[in-house]
Amino acid sequence: MLSYIIKGGNKLYGKVKVSGSKNAALPIIATSILNEEPVTLYNIPDIEDTKITLDILKILGCKITRNHDKITICSKDMNKTAIPKELMHKLRSTVVLAGAIIGRFKEATFSYPGGCNIGARPIDLHLDAFQKLGITIDEKEDYIHCRCKEIIGKRIKLKFPSVGATENIILASVYAKGATHITNAAKEPEIKDLAKCLNSMGAKIYGAGTSEITIFGVKKLHKTEYKIMSDRIETGTMLGAVAGVGGKITVENTNPENLLTVLYSFKEMGCKITINRDKITLKAPNELKPVNIETQPYPGFPTDMQPIMGAILTKADGKSVITENIFENRFKYAEELIRMGANIIQNDKSLEIEGVNTLTGKDVMSKDLRGGAALVIAGLMSEGITKVENIEYILRGYENIDKKLKSLGANIKKEKVV
Ligand code: UD1
Repeated sequence: MLSYIIKGGNKLYGKVKVSGSKNAALPIIATSILNEEPVTLYNIPDIEDTKITLDILKILGCKITRNHDKITICSKDMNKTAIPKELMHKLRSTVVLAGAIIGRFKEATFSYPGGCNIGARPIDLHLDAFQKLGITIDEKEDYIHCRCKEIIGKRIKLKFPSVGATENIILASVYAKGATHITNAAKEPEIKDLAKCLNSMGAKIYGAGTSEITIFGVKKLHKTEYKIMSDRIETGTMLGAVAGVGGKITVENTNPENLLTVLYSFKEMGCKITINRDKITLKAPNELKPVNIETQPYPGFPTDMQPIMGAILTKADGKSVITENIFENRFKYAEELIRMGANIIQNDKSLEIEGVNTLTGKDVMSKDLRGGAALVIAGLMSEGITKVENIEYILRGYENIDKKLKSLGANIKKEKVV
């Protein structure tokens, strides 16, 4: 088991470059299954989730070469359409591989995906959409078998703007007969990036980034080179760290437009924000003001930033309320914050956080990816030593978060516990 050992109190100063987006990388890697010609991707983060996804592609018969953040995937000789259960269980986004596999081979076998335990996370919207596209679904034991003669473009209205379901419909429809039209589609920037990447290889997708997306089926895709977007949640995490701990940092290689609601909340807290093209500078105030935050689908406040804000607000000057509307089990980090001295009342869908003057370092347990990152920030804000255990969750989604924080002046090291 791996842990971070953090000695709190150091303010953060300097510049840090964020990596490519985890949530864009995973569906974009899946596009290479649809394309028999080589797909070269840049800015792919070196994190556990991309490693697992690439391992699955190798098992399915893809050839992959990697040079730092550049990956070339060739799926010409791909000869398997079943995703092994053990790997499927490791992360949620494996489910989008299904849309790509069916899109290309008209069949796919997979099981219910795993990932962070932040809620029930069913895949009913994905499976309903597949059925609308003419795909037959047969659930046996732990496996879901999908097959069809042809994917037929249809009008699909999502009950909820699910990110994964929107991505899966796009991937499954690239070669469909006719047009697929999604209404109430998720509008997240990662979906826009997925469509841009697919269009760069010859797909015809319009409206991505809005709630109405149309995919006109094409016969063939051609090779492409594509640089994926930067990670807006990593950007928010780094800015959150300095807001909580104090100091002034500049985050580089980012896209401020994708983070406007979060930047607005930082401003409300009293942080000074300066934007210059792909750079955001945040100067923390001496004391943070409390804010109320409510998570919503994009362009609302992102659920993935909710735990980060929860940690920072433990030391604000007054009472903040955080309401979580997307996932029902995303407050597990709060119990750990309380052990560190935070004053938090947990209700069904909200946290009431009354700011305190001091947090005290403790041994705390990371229970999911973003909750784990929140505990790292709380450790930086605490007096004494914090040990964040079970950081395997954090490593799933953050590339070198310890090294990046260290380069800004934090006292943090990784430790292996045997
Ligand atoms: C993606 C992101 C995740 C982010 C989330 C919301 C990736 C790899 N992960 O997750 O980081 O927190 O979007 O922005 O991109 N739902 C159903 N049925 C379904 C699908 C979803 O009920 O078939 C529900 C979920 O349980 C959840 C809500 O819809 O309550 C949002 O889920 P969704 O937008 O699908 O999130 P993910 O794609 O899993």
